[in-house]
Order: sequence, then C-alpha cells, then structure tokens
Amino acid sequence: MSSAVVNRRGKIQGHFTPPGDKSISHRAVMFGALAEGRSTFMHFLEAEDCLHTLMAFQALGVHAEHEAGTGKLTLQGRGLKSLTAPAKELYLGNSGTSMRLLMGILAGQRFECTLTGDPSLSVRPMKRVTQPLKLMGAQIKGRDNGNYAPLLIRGGRLQGIDFDNTLASAQVKSALLFAGLYAEGATRIQEPRTSRDHTEKLLKAAGARFTQMGNVMTIEPTETLRPLSFTIPGDFSAAAFFIAAAAMIPGSVLTVNNVGLNPLRTGMLEVLKRMGAAIETKTGTDFPEPCGTVSVEGRRLQGTRITAPEIPGLIDELPVLMTVMALSEGESLISGAEELRVKETDRILSMVTNLNALGGRLKELPDGCLIQGVENMQGGIVQSFGDHRTAMCMAIASLVSDGEIRIEDVDCVATSFPTFFEAFERLRVD
Ligand code: S3P
Repeated sequence: MSSAVVNRRGKIQGHFTPPGDKSISHRAVMFGALAEGRSTFMHFLEAEDCLHTLMAFQALGVHAEHEAGTGKLTLQGRGLKSLTAPAKELYLGNSGTSMRLLMGILAGQRFECTLTGDPSLSVRPMKRVTQPLKLMGAQIKGRDNGNYAPLLIRGGRLQGIDFDNTLASAQVKSALLFAGLYAEGATRIQEPRTSRDHTEKLLKAAGARFTQMGNVMTIEPTETLRPLSFTIPGDFSAAAFFIAAAAMIPGSVLTVNNVGLNPLRTGMLEVLKRMGAAIETKTGTDFPEPCGTVSVEGRRLQGTRITAPEIPGLIDELPVLMTVMALSEGESLISGAEELRVKETDRILSMVTNLNALGGRLKELPDGCLIQGVENMQGGIVQSFGDHRTAMCMAIASLVSDGEIRIEDVDCVATSFPTFFEAFERLRVD
C-alpha cells in the first residue's frame, strides 16, 4: 500500500481532458457483449473497475480486442442469450456497478455463476438488486439472504414485475432493465427521483423495446440488440475534482474538454454556482450523451445546503463538495445523503474524519453533515479508507493547506482514475 505526500499550496490552471466515463464504459462493455455483431468504442476507461467488467465478459465467452493505452475497445457480441458459463468465479474487485449490473444480465442466462469482490465490495448491500431479481425468478444465494457477495446466481425463466423502488439507484434500475430484456411480459420500474440514465439511452440506441413515462420505465422482452460504436465522453466525476478545486481557489482558470454533460450527472455545477462559482458550460456533441466543455474561474465561495432532491444528480461528487464546503465562507449542510454510507467506504465518515484531521469543522449527521467553513487546512495524515474518491479529495484539500498532507493507501485511485496524480501535478501552479 503506497502513500502520497502532497505539500504545496496552489491554484489550478490549464486545460484538461478527463478519462472516459466510468458508468458509460461499464455499459459499453455490456451492450457490446450482448449485441449481435461488432461494436467499437473509443476513450474506454482503462481503470480497474471497468477492466473487471471487461474481464468478466471475456470469461463469459465474449471476444474483445483491447489495445491497452489507446482507449480503443472492440467487442464481438454474442447476442443476448449466448454467453457461456465461466470456468471459475467472476472476481469484480472494488466495482459495485460491475456486480449489480452483471447480476441483471446473468439472471437471464441458463447457467450458474459465482460473483466475488474485494473486502469493500463484499460488505456492500446487494439485496437491493437480488431481491427484485428473485421476484423475477432468478435463484440467488449469498450471505444474509443474498445481501452480500460472494453471490451464486442461477438464471432462468424470468417474469416481468412492477417494481416501485424506494431508492433512486441507477445500478438497481439498470440491473432490472437488463433482466427485463429476458423476461416474459413487461418489467416496470419506478424510482422516487430520476437517477443517471445511461442504460436507458443505450437501450434506445440498441433498439430495445424500452419506453419511459415520467419516472416509470418499461422494458419488454427483446430478441436482439444492435451493435453500437461511439466515443465515450470524458468522466464528469473525474473532472469534478479539478472543477471543484478551480472553482474555490481564486486565481484558478481551468478548461475541461470533452466532458460528459448529461444533466443527471452535473448537479455539482448548480451547487457550485449557488456558492458563487464562475462556471460556464458548452455542449458540443450529443451521441451517445451530451458532451462538451466546462470553463471555470476561481473565487472565494459561500456555504450552501444540499438536500435529498439534489442527491442523485451529484452522489459521486459529494465528497469533493464536502471538501469545497469545508473551505468556503459560512455554514453548509448536506442532508438526505445516507447512500454515501454504503459506497466504496462510508463516505460521510471518511470525509468528516479526514477533513477534521486537517483542521476542518465538520459534524457528522446520520444522513450527511453540517460544515462550518474555514479559510485553509493544516497539514496532517489522512487515510483513503480504500476509497478512490476520498483519496483524491485529500489531494484537492492540500491545495488550500498550510502544511504537508500524507494520504495513506492511495493505490485505490486506480479503480477510477489511474492518472489522477499526473493530472494533479500538471494542473497545479504556485
Ligand atoms: C452508478 C450509479 C451510482 C453511482 C456509481 C455508479 C452507475 O450508484 O454512485 O458510482 O454507473 O450506475 P447507485 O446506483 O448505487 O446510486
């Protein structure tokens, strides 16, 4: 386990093109694997999480050509029903998206398969997916009645269900949409608030029988999916670290190019603007998703409140928003964010602990935190808690810190953004 020492104050200046979007890269592999024919994707995210999805589908019999280092990925799809039983269990590392979405696809196959993950993934709740899949007819076994990996899944004849989810979760929704492709009759899914819609967009593009009325999505059994080829937009959630840093540090000027601008992902920009940030966006292309440019100029920001309705649109950006709020004027509050407790680590706990260790003034709440802004951080030792986003936030905090910050166990950044520290060093100026 290596550590990183970040020890210089600075601003963020320059141009940055983020690596490929993690959510869309996972789905690109899945759609490519299930289509009839050849799909080619550019700007695939070559990070551990997405590589685990790719390796899982290779183990399920899918032929893939991946030129490592180029972001180019070609898949020869096997069609919806012709995946083959893997020789051994499928190991998905740290990746909740891989495990949850894959379960929806495996529920429609005619073989048995075991899914495992690292210690963090093995304690993340899976019942949210396994329970509705069982209602559809899949057989799933795992600790605590199918709540924790390792999970043994045997697919088979599925029935469509009407599922009114209490969570706004794109992972749950996507797993059920995949399973619905194989089910008899329609599968209807409703969510309390709209979560990211990458799966829906690709289902439509691939020719699935998918419709949506408000928050109710309906998928009907589909015989074939068309292959798709596209360039994966840059990951807004990776760019978010530098956008947030640039927005809060006066003298920063940042342009982010080719970044995904799906409005269900960019909630952080609205919050930063409310805090007084100078941010402009320009959409360039629209397929498979809106993608364009974000320009930011740094200013001292004011505290604000984030409540439940906004959470799905910025769920992965909450750690960096906590960092910004800890360094803004006045009080900030985050509520309705209890989902943060079941991410790669408990991100309320990891962020409150770390920011307070650096002189922040944060109070943990069951579903968020209360923050009194300070002018700058002090040096100290912080932990990643094995969580990539917690680790990257600590580097951002160091830009506004008077002393050296040692971040323990930073290897985890490779799950989503292996080149983070290079980009950080390149964009940081005195
Ligand atoms: C994701 C959905 C979100 C998000 C995760 C990626 C996806 O999780 O936090 O990083 O790709 O569908 P939930 O569905 O659990 O909210």
